[in-house]
Amino acid sequence: MKKVLLLVSALCVAASGTLFIASAQNDMTPEERAAAAVDQRKALFKTIRFNLIPIAGMAQGAPFDAEVAERNARRIASIASMIPEVLAQDTSDFDDIETTALDSIWDNLDDIGVKAQALEDNANAFADAASTGDFGQAMGAFRAFGGSCGNCHDTYRVDND
Ligand code: HEC
Repeated sequence: MKKVLLLVSALCVAASGTLFIASAQNDMTPEERAAAAVDQRKALFKTIRFNLIPIAGMAQGAPFDAEVAERNARRIASIASMIPEVLAQDTSDFDDIETTALDSIWDNLDDIGVKAQALEDNANAFADAASTGDFGQAMGAFRAFGGSCGNCHDTYRVDND
């Protein structure tokens, strides 16, 4: 009986924690919600970059590590599938929020989906090539993989490169 009570009270604490998070979201102003969405998408792109850096290093002459190359490319493929979700919220009304995302994104979400899918496919193709252990084959697939970033940035991001 005591165990059951403990379990019930533990569940109540867990449930009120969930409610607290939900109500915190509701208490946010539209601007705070937009700022949180921008933070989230920047974090996602930073994580993509984090995984790409070692691969880019190998392309520039660092020792080829097929396992790391494949692993990181698979991670990027998986994260790429989240790009349409993190860009779903239109934040274009909030000029004070620092972002390099162009407003045209929210008139072209279908194309964002296409470009995110291209990154996912090209990252997986690179991972397949890297898994052979053959550097030349991996590098043959790297151009399309790396190019998928610029392919979206050139259209939908402030040109600050
Ligand atoms: C489908 C579109 C799309 C693809 C594909 C894409 N990006 Fe981006 N990326 C964006 C947009 C939009 C932003 C601007 C986000 C913002 O400032 O709100 C961005 C921002 C970034 C940033 C800056 C994040 C910050 O902290 O400001 C980095 C780094 C980045 N992308 C890396 C990459 C890399 C590396 C790839 C390829 C492996 C890639 N992106 C592929 C759309 C894309």
